[in-house]
Amino acid sequence: MALIERHPNVPDYIVEMSLEEIADRGGIADLFEEGHLILIKDYRLEFDWKALAALSKSTESISDAELRRKLKKLTAPYFFEGKPPEEINGKLIFRDPIRQAIYDTLCHGDLETFERAARALRYSHDEALRIFDICFPHYEPFRFVPSVRLTRTLFENLHWDNHSIDDDFHQARVFANLDSRPRIWSVSHRFTDWARDHYHEHDLGRFAGKDPNLMLNHIAGSVLGGTANTWMDSEPRHRVAFEPGEVWLGESRLISHQIYYGEAALVYMWFVKVSTMASPDRRFNRQVEAVHQEMQAKAAAA
Ligand SMILES: [Fe+2]
Repeated sequence: MALIERHPNVPDYIVEMSLEEIADRGGIADLFEEGHLILIKDYRLEFDWKALAALSKSTESISDAELRRKLKKLTAPYFFEGKPPEEINGKLIFRDPIRQAIYDTLCHGDLETFERAARALRYSHDEALRIFDICFPHYEPFRFVPSVRLTRTLFENLHWDNHSIDDDFHQARVFANLDSRPRIWSVSHRFTDWARDHYHEHDLGRFAGKDPNLMLNHIAGSVLGGTANTWMDSEPRHRVAFEPGEVWLGESRLISHQIYYGEAALVYMWFVKVSTMASPDRRFNRQVEAVHQEMQAKAAAA
């Protein structure tokens, strides 16, 4: 099980539950939508760690910035979906430039390394889909972003995720540690709790009726310090060390988080039809709107 050090000044929204328990209660959509961090108890991916350890961690040799970015937040199926390569003049050529870059750069041009990583990532992909189905049996996704992080992450700033889209959608997220070492996070207040507690102090009423990402950017950047002043905030935190192969779920726009250390991870995201949520009123945009309404009603009554 993950090692968790809970901070007394942060609500304890961490829930540990086995896949059997989750299936028995008909999923965890309700808990997820309420902003709980759900850890899958008694479960580990039986992942081939060495498959990813053999990959290059550096993409510096790729001059195309867009291609480099795509390898950093890599869509996992590029490894195991698509036409097999053809051998031309003694070199393996893939039709897809991203698959070619994976093969040439991450896999050092070695087919065995490529195929071993593809097998490992196919397995974690299938498991993530199975876990999604058990956790969210009623969710209907309309977009799927299955990405893996294969490069080291250290000392992030505390933040809530901003997908730079103000669409009123719901997201489901599954995370897994794909490394043989712990993945270490801090987690702190949920966005709506923080906004409620600091509403007047930071004049958050000016963001009412606007894209919630504007308020989110303001708090994460100007108030907590953002990437320019990492670790300068004084928010209390729970500390979590996820074990190798451990899987967890959470709405990362609600739960503030900060990766302290991690080597490789699966970060899968589904855009979900709001009508299929356990409580459609708990979609992110609506929860933020509700904070504005609540705080303005309180101010009017005072
Ligand atoms: Fe994040």
